[in-house]
Amino acid sequence: MKIYPTFFRLAFSWMDAELAHTVGFGLIKLADRTPAGPLLRRFTRPSRELRVQALGLTFPTPFGLAAGFDKNASGTGALMDLGFGHVEIGTVTGRAQPGNPKPRLFRLLEDRALINRMGFNNDGAAKVAERLAKQRARIDRRFPGTRPIVGVNIGKTKKVDLKDAIADYLISAEDLAPLADYLVVNVSSPNTPGLRLLQSVKSLRPLLHHVRQTADAAARRHVPLLVKIAPDLSDDDIAEVAQLVKDMGLDGVVATNTTITRDGLSIDAETVTSMGVGGLSGEPLKERSIDVLKLLRTHLDASVCIISVGGVRDAADVRARLDAGATLVQGYTAFLYEGPFWAHRINKSLAHPSSTVQNTHATRR
Ligand SMILES: Cc1cc2nc3c(=O)[nH]c(=O)nc-3n(C[C@H](O)[C@H](O)[C@H](O)COP(=O)(O)O)c2cc1C
Repeated sequence: MKIYPTFFRLAFSWMDAELAHTVGFGLIKLADRTPAGPLLRRFTRPSRELRVQALGLTFPTPFGLAAGFDKNASGTGALMDLGFGHVEIGTVTGRAQPGNPKPRLFRLLEDRALINRMGFNNDGAAKVAERLAKQRARIDRRFPGTRPIVGVNIGKTKKVDLKDAIADYLISAEDLAPLADYLVVNVSSPNTPGLRLLQSVKSLRPLLHHVRQTADAAARRHVPLLVKIAPDLSDDDIAEVAQLVKDMGLDGVVATNTTITRDGLSIDAETVTSMGVGGLSGEPLKERSIDVLKLLRTHLDASVCIISVGGVRDAADVRARLDAGATLVQGYTAFLYEGPFWAHRINKSLAHPSSTVQNTHATRR
């Protein structure tokens, strides 16, 4: 018997999904402050052979935690103790905002999926930067040598007009780039009205240009810059984004965010409709996420980092993404279903000699 699914059923599945997230994350942070923290860190440390060179950095393992889980950098170090090779915090916006009214997160248990319309609830760039500075100091102390990598994902404040979006992204870039190992411009959440229009190359080019200039100046170094895209873009749009990435010499792409489609679900349509609008994540996203990855890789050579995310459940999924051209892989939704040792299990399985990672798109060390 797997212990976590039983525990999940008994402890979490009856709770509102967002409350379950808050309680679960709270327990992870609590464990981190007890003597269990250092023990956990030793137990979950990824094996050396999983190290990957990407974005000019050494990642302890190709597998990391996607944006949205640790929106405010409130438990970045604690999550790293669970074996994630990188944690992407955020999405952080220029100003603090409460996000959409609750309920805004729904579980689709049979489909191992989630629907969310969180709406970038976060404490705002200034406050998150303060907290991230403390997290960074703690992470440096705890992981001498090769440490897990901190990604920072930035987005647009809801009440800022789309025409003023660049200035809003620049607030976050300025405050957070000095603390980020890499920075992601998120233009693909379905839960901020109009945001996805910024994915058009005409809007994206000036946005990325200004964010890169501001981030590098604020950090006084080159901060690797990536763009996160939606799975709902057409193949032609994806090709255009890839061309832009090449033209601008951008460091990479995160693919993909959640989808607004409701395809591939086994739960009845009425229940899905009753959950309302929002982004769908987890297993039903898997196929499109892999297609987008493959498409991107046909346009981008190995020097461009592709972080593949969407429907990743186990080590076989991670391996399949690496084989299909991903440099790094992330997950979120399956973490809720698989429990705190999810990343550790994936790392262990990846490191097993019979399942060695064949990653031709990153340098292994
Ligand atoms: C509850 C929830 C909140 C999310 N919040 C963000 C976010 O703030 N920024 C972002 O770029 N992606 C966000 N995502 C998307 C994830 O980072 C990821 O791209 C997506 O869920 C697909 O991966 P998965 O199928 O492994 O969950 C969120 C996803 C979920 C489920």
